Amino acid sequence: MNNTITKSIEIIKSDTTKINDVDFDNLGFGKVFTDHMMVCDYKNGSWTEPKIMPFGPITLEPSAKIHYGQSIFEGMKGYKDADGNIMLFRPLDNCKRLNISAERLAMPAIPEDYFMEGLKTLLKIDSDWIPTADGSSLYIRPFMFATGEGFHASPADEYKLIIACSPSGSYFAGKVKVLIEEKYARAANGGVGYAKAGGNYAGQFYPTQLAIEKGYNQVIWTDDSTHEFIEEAGAMNVFMRINDTLITAPTSERILDGITRKSIIEIAKEDGINVEVRKIKVSEIVEAAKNGTLKEIFGAGTAAVISPVAGFGFRGEDFDLPELENPYAAKLKKRITDIQTNKAEDKYGWRVKL
Ligand code: PLP
Ligand code: COI
Repeated sequence: MNNTITKSIEIIKSDTTKINDVDFDNLGFGKVFTDHMMVCDYKNGSWTEPKIMPFGPITLEPSAKIHYGQSIFEGMKGYKDADGNIMLFRPLDNCKRLNISAERLAMPAIPEDYFMEGLKTLLKIDSDWIPTADGSSLYIRPFMFATGEGFHASPADEYKLIIACSPSGSYFAGKVKVLIEEKYARAANGGVGYAKAGGNYAGQFYPTQLAIEKGYNQVIWTDDSTHEFIEEAGAMNVFMRINDTLITAPTSERILDGITRKSIIEIAKEDGINVEVRKIKVSEIVEAAKNGTLKEIFGAGTAAVISPVAGFGFRGEDFDLPELENPYAAKLKKRITDIQTNKAEDKYGWRVKL
């Protein structure tokens, strides 16, 4: 398989643009899509080189092996600074994680060069779509799924990788209420929890709907065998602050290795915050909420950025978190978004300028 692009990327430009119909002041999250998308096809054992096409429907045979859930994705963001430079945040980590997911789902790896050069070309073409208002960005969704045909329960021989983009604002409207889940599980040892597999999200929807009916926004998953330990939330990793210590669960074969999570751990340490990466017992959190030492809970993820949690439910009881004057969540959100949007020095080399 060729690992580097051999010819210039083919670009089929859209004849029209939808951009003038978009209300950039009320974007919401993932609701409107840019004019173009990047497409690569896997056939006969290799990937076609990336192609930029008008955003639009794709055809799929009814016999495509998507039935068996070979579907993985990534979530990234593109930013534009005051001088109009386009930036990505740790994009190679997303490419690497896509390929980790691909391996687990018996799908083919995408060469880094195809992913990166295809993505950069797409962003340059749709650069007018990158919003600059505070709290907004271009949400980027790379996804790969089985297109090869057959009803035999075995990996497909053909796949499609698409990168589509959506100018977006906040993932959550306001503070988040979470429910600590003890019955259902998101992932199990030996399973696919660490992969960004579509099925991980499908499996969460029903328990999350039940939580939403009870007035919560997200579920905080606990480990599948004992339900005693906090794992992560539906669309983000979680951090707990007890007194002045920030605690997050170690990643594992059940937990997504979040890029925001690992960046926040580094930034927080640099800012002198005591960070502990260790298993967190639900009983420890409940106890800390009761004795007043639980100061904050927040989620961390690309879509969620840093989302403060207003309170959590556990075994029918609700626990509210205090309103702090200078919460870690706000401070760390500013630190990471300033790096992402080129407002602050990037001593880690995380930013990639196009
Ligand atoms: N955990 C889950 C289940 C997620 O869906 C996400 C979002 O991507 C995260 C954690 C956070 O990962 P990242 O910071 O890489 O976006
Ligand atoms: C992301 O944060 O990019 C995600 O993929 C989470 C998704 C459920 C919106």
